[in-house]
Amino acid sequence: MEIRKIESKTDERQVIDLFAKVFSGGGYYNSLSLKSNYVRAPWTRLDRNCTAIAVEKGEVVGHVGVLGYSKRIGSSHIRCGGIGGVAVEPRFRKKGVATRLFEAIIANMLEHGYDVSMLFGIPDFYHRFGYAPCLTHCEIITTLRDHEPSRSGLRLRVATKKDIPKLAKFYDTDNAGRTGTLVRGERDWLRVLKCRHHLVLRGSRCVGYIRCDGRGKSLYVHELAVEPKEAILAGVVELCLQRTAKERRAELCFNIPLDSPMAGFLQTQNCKTIQHHSRSGGPQGRMINVPQCLDRISGELSRRVERSAFAAKSLKLAVKTDAGSALLTLARGKVAVRPGEHSAPLQLSCPQQTLMKLVIGHGRPLRNLCGEKVGTKGDVGELLEALFPEGRPFLWEIDHY
Ligand SMILES: CC(C)(COP(=O)(O)OP(=O)(O)OC[C@H]1O[C@@H](n2cnc3c(N)ncnc32)[C@H](O)[C@@H]1OP(=O)(O)O)[C@@H](O)C(=O)NCCC(=O)NCCS
Repeated sequence: MEIRKIESKTDERQVIDLFAKVFSGGGYYNSLSLKSNYVRAPWTRLDRNCTAIAVEKGEVVGHVGVLGYSKRIGSSHIRCGGIGGVAVEPRFRKKGVATRLFEAIIANMLEHGYDVSMLFGIPDFYHRFGYAPCLTHCEIITTLRDHEPSRSGLRLRVATKKDIPKLAKFYDTDNAGRTGTLVRGERDWLRVLKCRHHLVLRGSRCVGYIRCDGRGKSLYVHELAVEPKEAILAGVVELCLQRTAKERRAELCFNIPLDSPMAGFLQTQNCKTIQHHSRSGGPQGRMINVPQCLDRISGELSRRVERSAFAAKSLKLAVKTDAGSALLTLARGKVAVRPGEHSAPLQLSCPQQTLMKLVIGHGRPLRNLCGEKVGTKGDVGELLEALFPEGRPFLWEIDHY
């Protein structure tokens, strides 16, 4: 069996046929939309240099796709390989095909300049390729009974391609500094708008945008960016509740970051918040290139240090993992990163998964350091709290790989 890149239109066609066989039966994907979208659409982020297929006697029997995105870590941006289309032909399963594909794509991502990789996956499978849970899924639920009318005079209009600059402005403002979100370009907006979004208008002025869709007993708000004024937040909730009632659904569910203005507003109303944590499966990530990633986020790390008790201190911290090592030097409130293994008064030695959690702010640093394979030298606890504080990393639903 050969493990290689997609090289021809025949390969592309066979990849789509494989998806149709593996996914569409369960309604997981619509194979027709995959046909038109996955490989050739103008908005595809498929990275052909990193994606791998398994070929047996001229037939594509396995595929792991890498989608290249820019992702925020606070105010810094890193390169993230989003994993999609993980599929092995049923006849070839449990023979190590997916394992060989993952070995290939991880090496490819390292070669092609990625910092981290993330995926949304089935349980008990991806840990063997170094992926560990690194996002928490949140839902804020409110019902018609709970709400006071706002009479805000807001209305909705379906967004079109011409509205992309407006949508992008609201998205960029709302997500500035929000760890985990994608840095969306024009091409991403073309993909995003394949699902219907609405502009929120007050008179003729656009005050934001929203994407909702109904499923079962709930109307879901999957994306939202509006001016963070109470009257507008209240008006948007009211519009959504009206639609919830019109569609005879029982509740309104917001899949939004818990630190967003809308989440703050909802928490002043009657609502319930659910956080889904998973030990395995769901959103997971791994480091690809540790020194490069730390270097890319050194601007954000410096900002954090400047605001901390370490602002005036000079320190060296050596970080060692199985996905690379680096020396962090703090001086005059700035963090500089040097690749390679170093010896320093402060040292952290840990699996790359632990560092992934620290970088993305999933969980408290000291809790993340409880694992057996973590070693420290010197008093690193407070410094790690300053460099990698617990956050609320988030990825909007439409951007799930
Ligand atoms: C999941 C899938 C890609 C695995 O492919 P595969 O080639 O059979 O995987 P491998 O043979 O390399 O298996 C590697 C290990 O994972 C285990 N494994 C295989 N499929 C698994 C599954 N669905 N769940 C949990 N573990 C699984 C194997 O037992 C093996 O374990 P071991 O290392 O302890 O021996 C394949 O079953 C598939 O295409 N499933 C349907 C599509 C799908 O679910 N894709 C993932 C979407 S997130």
